[in-house]
Amino acid sequence: MIRNQPEFDIYRIMKKYQTILALIVSLFVFQSASCGHENRKVYRIGVSQCSDDSWRDKMNEEIRREMLFHEDAEVEIRTANDNNARQISDIEYFIRNGFDAIIASPNQAEALTPVLKKAYEKGIPVIIFDRGVKGENYTSFIEFDNAGIGSEAADYAGHHIENGSVIELTGLPGSTPAEDRHRGFEERLREYPGLRLVAVASGDWKEAEAAATMDSLLKLYPDVKAVYAHNDLMAIGASHVLTKQGRRGEDESRVMVLGTDATPDVGIKSVLDSVIDATFIYPTDGHQLIKTTMAVLKGEPFEREVKSRALPPVDIRNAEIMLRQDKLLSDETGKLLTLQEKNEEIMSRQRAQTYLIFSLSGLAILLIVSILLFLRFFRQRSRYQRNLKEKNEELQRERDKQEELYKALDEATKSKLVFFTNVSHDLRTPLTLISGPVEKLSRAEYLVEEDRRLMRVAVKNVKILRRLIDQILDFRRYENGKSELHLSEVNLLRLIEEWSEAFQGIARSRDIRLTVEAENREEATMAVDTGMMERVFFNLLSNAIKYTPRNGKVEVRASESGERFELTVRDTGMGISKEDMVKIFDRFFQVDKVNPNGSGIGLALTQALIELHGGEIRVESEPGKGSEFRVTIPVRHVEESKESVVAHISEAEVAAEFAETEAAEQIFDSGKPLLLVIDDNRDILDYAVALLGADYNVITATGGKEGIRLASRFIPDLIICDVMMPGMDGIECVRILKREISTSHIPVMMLTASAAEETRVNSYDVGADAFLSKPFDGRLLKSRIRNLLDNRMRLKAIYSNAPGETGNHEKGTERSDIPKEGINDRMSLESDFYKSFVDIVNDDLGNSNIRLTDIASKLGIGATQLSRKIKALTNYSPVEVIRTLRLKRARKLLMSTEKTISEIAYEVGFTSPAYLSKCFRDAYGETPSDVRTKVRD
Ligand code: FRU
Repeated sequence: MIRNQPEFDIYRIMKKYQTILALIVSLFVFQSASCGHENRKVYRIGVSQCSDDSWRDKMNEEIRREMLFHEDAEVEIRTANDNNARQISDIEYFIRNGFDAIIASPNQAEALTPVLKKAYEKGIPVIIFDRGVKGENYTSFIEFDNAGIGSEAADYAGHHIENGSVIELTGLPGSTPAEDRHRGFEERLREYPGLRLVAVASGDWKEAEAAATMDSLLKLYPDVKAVYAHNDLMAIGASHVLTKQGRRGEDESRVMVLGTDATPDVGIKSVLDSVIDATFIYPTDGHQLIKTTMAVLKGEPFEREVKSRALPPVDIRNAEIMLRQDKLLSDETGKLLTLQEKNEEIMSRQRAQTYLIFSLSGLAILLIVSILLFLRFFRQRSRYQRNLKEKNEELQRERDKQEELYKALDEATKSKLVFFTNVSHDLRTPLTLISGPVEKLSRAEYLVEEDRRLMRVAVKNVKILRRLIDQILDFRRYENGKSELHLSEVNLLRLIEEWSEAFQGIARSRDIRLTVEAENREEATMAVDTGMMERVFFNLLSNAIKYTPRNGKVEVRASESGERFELTVRDTGMGISKEDMVKIFDRFFQVDKVNPNGSGIGLALTQALIELHGGEIRVESEPGKGSEFRVTIPVRHVEESKESVVAHISEAEVAAEFAETEAAEQIFDSGKPLLLVIDDNRDILDYAVALLGADYNVITATGGKEGIRLASRFIPDLIICDVMMPGMDGIECVRILKREISTSHIPVMMLTASAAEETRVNSYDVGADAFLSKPFDGRLLKSRIRNLLDNRMRLKAIYSNAPGETGNHEKGTERSDIPKEGINDRMSLESDFYKSFVDIVNDDLGNSNIRLTDIASKLGIGATQLSRKIKALTNYSPVEVIRTLRLKRARKLLMSTEKTISEIAYEVGFTSPAYLSKCFRDAYGETPSDVRTKVRD
């Protein structure tokens, strides 16, 4: 089943749209935030009060009220309770926390100057009010005319009392209002000669302190007529002391008490209550303070030094009206504040509503987007699932169809195999009946040499056929589970040594070193089916030798550990490619080669037989380097051997395995040249056979690979090859043919429908000899074939002269009988080949029984291929060429040595001097004795 792909994962979709969502959310958050606050600067103003009393309460109230009109500013008021250190730390706090402006009323000028200077120098606007500092390190100073207040007080006393002593109670020394008020009072009092300032003492701006001072002073100056206190609190303290002493009655001893500040609830009330006689207004002006500060902060014009003029006194005559006015003012202020609060409430409600609207619209957008996404997701999912279902159904249908096909194929294969097995069975009996007589016939004494050769071919091929049929039947038996092990207790290692012996001859003939190492462990035996093991060994070793080139090596190693038997056959052959390696044990698989031998069933059967013994076979191989087959079988034993006959491998059997199937050539008409036509189009092949059959033996192949197989097997006189073919094309096919020594001499005519120049170039490059475009005219084809064969004949003439010449064929001497002019690379390949052949023969000339198979295997080709090749090159059979070479050597020896004719005859490989004489006369028209006589003469 195809699984649901993460393609429709909701998280992926959400991820895909997360940018849009993030945008919506941030827009919404931004909008919500912006309806709460406008994007503007909010100034922070710090107010430092030195003291805490009704005058400052009033002022602070005015400050806060004024702040209502400045939305872009906020204020923090700190009170130091008449303590310098505390006030310094309050101002430090404002500096540290980045306040935009500092408003301060310094408790004492000297003590507070440094910290305010520090703030000022840091660039923070510093607005001083009420009490001053030392120097001018401030932005603005808002003060009241304190000296003027002192003067007003002196005037009031002067107007109401003619003569008498006056006491002055001052504020905290070192605070500027105390100093200024004293100055103003003292100076103006001098203008009233009846009045005398008898004592000036500090009450530190506080009621209790003033009361205590008054108490002491009264004892010193009992005749005092007036007391002037720098604020109402001190005046009230003094008044209480005086009242206690009876000095506030309506008699002569009454002491006038004057205060300062005139706050409604303290000073003015005290006047109305007759606690004090008069008070002088000390304006608080909190709103002015904030206005100036805001002007400074906003860079608007402001006054640096503000000094308000003194006002008339408040006494019993105007106290009531002042109080009423103040009440009126505070009522109005109250209303204003209520209005302000309501406004605030409305504003915040409106903000909340706006926020709600934004929130809701944001949520609505989110909801809509989510719904759309979900809808999209579900639509895509259902579409995808529909597709998935369809695909699955389609796959299922495909699978069903394949299963049916497979079943049909399996059925067909089975019935073919059954048929194949039956046919094999049927073939076996007649073959057995043929093999007996044929073998007997081949040994008959009356046979002439040629017939004996033919009979040997027949015997070999009958053996090959029998082995093949046996293998097929064995394998089928195994496949059908009918194979039975006939176990017998044998020394398998010794058997392997014996079996190997039969291969030494063929290995030697191919210049292959065959080594056998079998460790014979104390004559140990094991139970195997020797027949089967013999076949396993036969297959592995004959394969190794077949695929190992001249001068290669084949190693057989066998060992038996008591538990396991191991056989390794290693060769230095062509190796097996990776893709072939997985298939080599498959039934009927055959590694494709130019010279394939066997049916392809050998390794499959080998594996089957090993498996029957409970063992396994493995292969390791590297193309170009060789292969190693390793067989392992668990060692077991039987008490009673089922069969005591031990299988043997004879040299004849091995030779038969390595012999080629020569039957096919018997069907050709030996008088006609052999043509091979390679074309994937059957019509062309049929046409070629019909057209050329009368004049030539024609064989056909439907593809490049088959063409190469047939060419190397039959060595035709001419090849006609199509260029465009599926699988291996004509160019590749010709390239291989021209590279192989056994086929390189064969002229090739390319056939193609393509007139492209490149095809021609490629064809000639790989060695094609002629070229014909399709569709071709039959007569043209015939004439081309004739031409090519004639040219070949001319070339043959060059070689055919060769053995007839004398004295030039000694090993290592250069041939002078082949013309150098016009020899191309291929011709030199042919001449090299021919020269090698001549050298091999000359080396072994003394051997009267030179075997063609030996020469062929030394040259790396089959005996039949060698015959055809020599015939194609020289027009003579190899036997004729060898005889000529013997005669040439004999002639040379006759002419250049003193050896007897009989000695020479044996030296050059004649079986008798008489036979030499006969052949010599046939070839040269004279006898060896004639030659000797001539030489002596
Ligand atoms: C209040 C106060 C007033 C006085 C002023 C002088 O703290 O004592 O009574 O007029 O300070 O700075």
